[in-house]
Amino acid sequence: MAGETSWQSAAALQGAQAPTFDTSVAHIARVYNYWLGGKDNYAADRAAGDRTIAEFPGIVASARANRAFLRRVVRFLVTEAGVRQFLDVGTGIPTSDNTHEVAQALAPQSRIVYVDNDPVVLAHARALLTSSSAGVTAYLDADLRDPGPILARAAQTLDFSRPVAIVLLAVLQLLADDDEPYRVVAELLAAVPPGSYLALSHPTSDVQQGQVTAMVARLNDLVAEKVTTRDRDQVARFFAGLEPVEPGLVNVSEWRPDPAGTPEAPAALWVCVARKP
Ligand SMILES: C[S@@+](CC[C@H](N)C(=O)[O-])C[C@H]1O[C@@H](n2cnc3c(N)ncnc32)[C@H](O)[C@@H]1O
Repeated sequence: MAGETSWQSAAALQGAQAPTFDTSVAHIARVYNYWLGGKDNYAADRAAGDRTIAEFPGIVASARANRAFLRRVVRFLVTEAGVRQFLDVGTGIPTSDNTHEVAQALAPQSRIVYVDNDPVVLAHARALLTSSSAGVTAYLDADLRDPGPILARAAQTLDFSRPVAIVLLAVLQLLADDDEPYRVVAELLAAVPPGSYLALSHPTSDVQQGQVTAMVARLNDLVAEKVTTRDRDQVARFFAGLEPVEPGLVNVSEWRPDPAGTPEAPAALWVCVARKP
């Protein structure tokens, strides 16, 4: 199995031969790609991107800070926490420094399962399946709101008797309260053994409240998937029963900033990494 794509990723790619998606309505994966300066977006996505930037220009820096956090957190998980397995849900359209690239550059045997429910991400999934020969990457076209099938299919690639990092970056805001996001995260955590980690980033209107609230209202008028921001206490609830690693639940700019990097301004994102005891 080493260095191969698993059966489910092959199946996903078959689906990717002829992706069918509506380009007339903005989708969050493509708007996010636009904020990041990517090219995998359409006119409706760019229009939504521009109108949200007009409400909150800091959204571009927040999106970039989120990707920089992904690099820092995966590096931490591999080098300091010793994790070699990753379940990255809400992967997004591939860009630079995807989870497997960061992890396998440090530990080539790392095994990564990516999950997203957007057909455009599926269409680009091939770029996520460039595993090192010692490791494995797989892609699942699945919905975070229903963790059961994700866990069952991920078990084809990940060994759930050994620690797994559950990576949920900028995705839980796309689950409404009615989708029971706390139940979803608890179900994922229940499937992994002690010594596993939860790494999470979550958009918030605790920072630059007026602008972020206006931006989210505009975004929700324009995109297919609706965003629910959560405050610090609401984000902290995802970590109930876990042991946060230093510096705990903080603004993305404060989570183990790269000492050689330029200090980042606070962005509209809470982040935290915690260990399952
Ligand atoms: C803002 S992007 C974040 C991408 C990446 N995690 C990052 O932090 O750079 C959110 C991604 O979550 C995906 N997504 C939204 N709702 C989802 C769901 N219910 N199940 C799986 N993926 C979902 C979107 O398609 C999109 O690709």
